[in-house]
This record gives sequence, C-alpha cells and structure tokens, in this order.
Amino acid sequence: MPAGRVLVRAEIALSEEERAHAARMRERLGDEIRSAGGWISFERYMETALYAPGLGYYSAGARKLGRGGDFTTAPEMSRLFGACLARQCAQVITALGEASILEIGAGSGALAADVLERLEALGALPSRYRILEVSGDLRDRQRRTLEERMPHLQARIEWLDAPPDESFDGVILANEVLDALPVVRFRWHPTHCEELGVALEPEGLVWEPRPASAALTEVCARLRVAAGGWDEGYVSEYCQRLPLWTRAVTRALSRGAVFWVDYGLPRRHYYHPERRDGTLLCHFRQRALDDPFLFPGLQDICAWVDFTLLAESCAPAGFRVEGFCTQAYFLAGLNVDVEMRQLADGDANRLARLAGEARRLMLPGEMGERFKAMAWLRDVDLALNGFALQDLRHTL
Ligand SMILES: C[S@@+](CC[C@H](N)C(=O)[O-])C[C@H]1O[C@@H](n2cnc3c(N)ncnc32)[C@H](O)[C@@H]1O
Repeated sequence: MPAGRVLVRAEIALSEEERAHAARMRERLGDEIRSAGGWISFERYMETALYAPGLGYYSAGARKLGRGGDFTTAPEMSRLFGACLARQCAQVITALGEASILEIGAGSGALAADVLERLEALGALPSRYRILEVSGDLRDRQRRTLEERMPHLQARIEWLDAPPDESFDGVILANEVLDALPVVRFRWHPTHCEELGVALEPEGLVWEPRPASAALTEVCARLRVAAGGWDEGYVSEYCQRLPLWTRAVTRALSRGAVFWVDYGLPRRHYYHPERRDGTLLCHFRQRALDDPFLFPGLQDICAWVDFTLLAESCAPAGFRVEGFCTQAYFLAGLNVDVEMRQLADGDANRLARLAGEARRLMLPGEMGERFKAMAWLRDVDLALNGFALQDLRHTL
C-alpha cells in the first residue's frame, strides 16, 4: 500500500456526501464513547471506524482500492504479483492433488482473477476458490471483476461471510489484510504504561490516556525487552487479536499452506527505540495521513504487522512457519522474470511496462523490503519455491 507524501488537512475538499458520512460516523462514535462513560480503547475505535455496519470504511461504499481510490496494493499495481503467487499455489496444489483456495480480504478481485488465470494456464486450477470478505461493496466489485475476467470459472468461485466450518486441503491467501486488524495503542513510561484511547472534546475526537491494564503492561514490558529498551513517552501499538483471528481463519485448513503478505517487521525492528510513534497510518485518496480522527469512516486505518507475533501465533494454530522473506525475494524465488515474459507475450512495450511494475514491487525503496511474505504449513512437507532465495526466520 505505498502512499505518497503525508497530506495536510487544508488540501482536502470533501464532497457533501462525504461530509455527511463522516458526520454520521462521528455521531455513532460519540454515542459509543458517551455510553462507555467517556472513553473507548483505540482498538474499539478502529473496529468501529473500519467495520461498523453501513458506516465503517470497509463496510460502506467508498472506492478504496486502485486508481481513484485511497491506496494501491500489489495486485492493483501489477498482474505479476498474482502470477507469481499462482506459481506458489501451483506447487502446493500439485503436491496435495485435490485442493481449494481460500482468499481472505480480496479487495477488487484482481488477485483472485490473476491467480486463477495463471493457475489455469499451469493446469493447476483449484476445485474451489472461496473468498472471505467483510465488505459488501468490495464483494460486489470482486464479483464483477471475476465475471468479466473468468466467466467460465464462476461455478468454482464463492463468497463466505465467516471462515469455513468444513475442513479442506489447499491454500489460504491473505495480502494486506492483517494490517487492517484493530490494534491497541500504548505509551510507555519508566514507572508505568498507559493505554491511549479515544475521548470526545467539544473540538472533536481526541487521544486520551488511561492506566494500562496489568495484562497490557506485561505485554509492553516484553516488547520493550525485545526492542532493547524505550525512552520515556515511547508510543506504539499491539495487535492483541491477531493470534485468535489467524487461528479462526485458518482452522479449517487440514493440509496445506497459508501465505501472509503484508508490510511489517520482525519484533525487534518493529519496536525499535527510534520508532517512537509506532506505525499507525491512514490512507485517503492515495495519500498517507497520520490522524486517525480526521475522516472516520472515509479513510483507511492500518498498522504494520509484527511478524514475530504472527510467527508466535502459528504453532498454537496448528501450523509450522515454513518461510519468511521480503516480498522482493519471494517474487524472485517464484520466477518473476519468467512471469514477466509470459505476460508480455512478445510485446516489447508491454515488457517494458511490466519491468517498471516489477521494480515497484521489488525495489527496497518501494514495496520490495517493507513488504514481507510468511508461509505456514500444516501436514505437508514442501520446500516452498517462494522462500528458496532468502530465509529471514532467524530474525523473528
Ligand atoms: C487493503 S485491502 C487488500 C485487498 C487485496 N487483498 C489486495 O491485495 O488488493 C484489505 C481487504 O481485506 C478486507 N478485510 C478487512 N478486514 C477483514 C477481515 N477482518 N476479514 C476479512 N476481510 C477483511 C477488506 O474488505 C479488503 O478487501
């Protein structure tokens, strides 16, 4: 989700409809804060701002992804990403025989279409392609994308409201979904720890500290040790729901692989003493914003992923971590150069365009290093091609 420079408030002009939407969301948040006694956790704020039925960023009708939206993801930027991921899926599907794919949070449907298109060419189509999606309007958009690009595969594609109950073999894909899980925000002091929540002042929504619970204080103390110490007033966030959520969405996979791709870091870099203000970020019209209270319901809110926490969540969910590397090495291991020529199909202009896209996906200053890929495996032995060129598991 690379975004341009940080936006300043004065540059933003909202439409009537957007203003009304943000006002309704503020009203909803205000009611919630008042009925909770004047304060809610940031985790609750983020959950409401992103997911409140009919109003939340992911539940309501904003355009969100791609050109004209708020941010651009790897599959929105290039078909190369899905083509490479398809190669990785093909390796797992071939090893398993009969297999399905479950994609979590499918955005515009571009990744699903790219993966299916390439898997078909590789002769490794899954028996089913299911999409777990919370957003009604993105679901409609995914349906349109897939009807247009893969009309002959419609019978294999279905949408789910909740993780599947019945077990299956195959692959789970989640690109840029973990960063949308609500996080708690904290501030560290040598003598105590505060949780930063949200209160209502006459001028609007504001940050307000409260003493952190004993459990959160203990978590922060552990993170601080892993990071090598923090100064007074160090602020960051923690995704306390990640272990249970990842377990719930992967529970039904009896044999196969889960691929998580997101921007994030191993714990000791994530909580580095110099990252004094955490990783919380908002996106609005292709720009980054640092104020999560500016346009509630209209802007995306996300935080980087602590990949050590994701790795710690793996064994309790019944998997083992089979790979962890940067997106650049993941795509290189999946023969991005071969996929580039395949997609260019002999057209020199197309090849040049794809080479530019590959640079954006892979260069360290673009998405190549900030984004990481992690694989979990259950009940299958495979040396996954995507992780053949780099193994960063020792950094977790
Ligand atoms: C940043 S977009 C990424 C979309 C797509 N994976 C891509 O790479 O273009 C996040 C996606 O996850 C979905 N999403 C957010 N939270 C979710 C959750 N808790 N469960 C399932 N999907 C979720 C959003 O509606 C959206 O489709």
